[in-house]
Amino acid sequence: MLNDIFRAEKAMKYDEENEHYAELYERWFQTKRYQVKNLLEIGVYKGGALRSWLRYFPIADVYGIDIKDKYNLSKKFNTERSHFAIGNQIDNEFMLNVYPDIMFDVIIDDASHIVEHQWKTFNFMFQRVALGGTYIIEDIHTSYWPAFNGGYGRKNTFVEKAKTLVDMVNYKAYKIIDRAGQYKVKEEPTWLEKNIHSVSFYRGLCFIERKKAKL
Ligand SMILES: C[S@@+](CC[C@H](N)C(=O)[O-])C[C@H]1O[C@@H](n2cnc3c(N)ncnc32)[C@H](O)[C@@H]1O
Repeated sequence: MLNDIFRAEKAMKYDEENEHYAELYERWFQTKRYQVKNLLEIGVYKGGALRSWLRYFPIADVYGIDIKDKYNLSKKFNTERSHFAIGNQIDNEFMLNVYPDIMFDVIIDDASHIVEHQWKTFNFMFQRVALGGTYIIEDIHTSYWPAFNGGYGRKNTFVEKAKTLVDMVNYKAYKIIDRAGQYKVKEEPTWLEKNIHSVSFYRGLCFIERKKAKL
């Protein structure tokens, strides 16, 4: 179903030979379609994905950010449920202040795909994910491509950095000492450690969930 929407709306997530992006999004969100209230996609291009999300999440407000507005997106996505802003995904001042007061149930990074940008943007935008929400990074295979500053095993790629999040899911096991049943904090956990609920890697995609409740 979602792949049909992607195709009809000409989202760049549609690919005839490769439908797993739509399948994964459906696996993650089909039971939450009426619960997602605010979705942000970074990287809008011609707007196909934003139009798709407006259809797939019937009550959601859909927000977009792109570094340029070549396709008149400011006019097209200026409705009651759709919003567009021009900005650079690595401008943390802009990103943290854009759409103030909105916490997003879903944030998708489908912008430059440059590996440092993906990690940097995640680091300052994960705090804009609502409790229990999800942050998705698309096209993480660029972590293996030199053209995007990637390379197998190369330090500082998104995939290499994101592997550290796997440890954070179990931070209590290394930041708390258990002596004879008495728990003692060895080192204060970071905000990220306290907020990461899960990290899931797929071909091309990474889904990172924020915990449902504040610790
Ligand atoms: C792959 S396209 C987005 C496709 C769209 N999400 C879809 O599924 O139809 C990538 C977009 O990211 C934008 N972009 C590239 N670098 C960016 C940056 N540093 N900050 C924000 N947007 C950027 C480009 O202008 C382009 O429109």
